[in-house]
Amino acid sequence: MENFSTYNPVKLHFGSNALFKIHEQAPKYGRRALVVYGQGSVKKYNILVKVLNQLAQSGVSYVEYGGIKPNPVVEDVVQAAAMARKEKVDMIVAVGGGSVIDSSKVIALAAKSDIDPWEFMLGRAEPTDALPILTVLTVVGTGSEMNGVAVLQNNMAGQKLGMRHELMYPRESFLDPGLTTTVPKFQTACGMADIIAHAMEAYFGDGGSPLADYFAASIIREVMDVGIKLINDLGNYDLRARIMLAATYALNGTTAIGRGNSGDWGVHAVGHILSLLYDIPHGATLTVAYPAWLKLHLDKIPDRIRHLGRLVFDKQCLDERDTIKEFEKFFKLLDLPVNLADVNIPRDERQIILQLMNQNRVTGAVFPLTKEDRAAIVELMTTGGKI
Ligand code: NZQ
Ligand code: ZN
Repeated sequence: MENFSTYNPVKLHFGSNALFKIHEQAPKYGRRALVVYGQGSVKKYNILVKVLNQLAQSGVSYVEYGGIKPNPVVEDVVQAAAMARKEKVDMIVAVGGGSVIDSSKVIALAAKSDIDPWEFMLGRAEPTDALPILTVLTVVGTGSEMNGVAVLQNNMAGQKLGMRHELMYPRESFLDPGLTTTVPKFQTACGMADIIAHAMEAYFGDGGSPLADYFAASIIREVMDVGIKLINDLGNYDLRARIMLAATYALNGTTAIGRGNSGDWGVHAVGHILSLLYDIPHGATLTVAYPAWLKLHLDKIPDRIRHLGRLVFDKQCLDERDTIKEFEKFFKLLDLPVNLADVNIPRDERQIILQLMNQNRVTGAVFPLTKEDRAAIVELMTTGGKI
């Protein structure tokens, strides 16, 4: 086991009608809020109006910034931060999924500084202050509601980057599984894939931590147990609750205890290239990239892949090849893509993908990727390879 430090200050309010606690909590953070949301779902499903009523009830005035895109872009953060400064808000209230929450985290930093927020993402500027952030989660998967990570896209620079900072932990997150029953089948499946990918990135992290391995495998098992049932019963509150909890705990530090880092994250780096080029939902980029990454590492870390398979699928006869096949099978059962053709990317795009991967030096923290590895991953994402 490795030495480690862990920290997570986020207060969770979990369960039916959790957002009706906002009026009790919000005034602790000031008198005026910037409410950030996406491209309309929270209006369509009457979530925003409830949040605004809660703020009004508690005497917190607000301004709104809507329109955050899935795979959020830095331009929105710049504009929203300017609004936060102009309107002298005391807090950010994020109503949405990972894209809205991640944007809100960087808005919270940028509102307290004159520095171009992309400088924070590049690690060239160190944040020193942030507005407090409250979140109301409406779509499940990223775990952003209980971590200090934000991922943003900069299309001009051809980069999608993640950053982590203690100032970006939400102060409180309001998690009502009932708010997620309107999330369509494909997006629900993408969220489940993201949870599995977070547990796997952690599992392939630095150093041996059997307890963390069990945590990671348990999260994957929970998603697999819920998966097909939820896809066929999208309005089921209990299944939504189980998947929401799994998502939150897949990336709040739990699966990293006893490891030297939070995970490998090479597959996410590959996925971000696909989001950048083709605007594919995050979870779907991961089901394309993970099988290829596992196949590339089949002969390098067979024991580790096999061990994961045995923990997750509970079959002692399973080998490393079967493990990869089982993961692919599950993704297909959820109707998720497992290769580039499944997301309508033609074969002749291979060079473009590889070029952007090389330009961004796509790699993992534990398993570095050489240029040859990247080429092999692109090939495996195209052909599926043979195992
Ligand atoms: O924009 P609206 O209209 O709100 O629609 C959204 C969006 O189209 C819709 N939606 C949200 N709530 C809904 C709903 N539809 C119906 N009913 C509701 N209640 O869902 C769509 C996807 O939303 P988005 O926030 O983009 O999804 P997700 O939560 O998967 O976030 C993806 C982003 O998070 C990043 C990803 O890279 C991607 O940019 N990640 C963030 C991480 C973190 N902060 O820790 C880690 C992850 O690995 C990931 O990289
Ligand atoms: Zn992810």
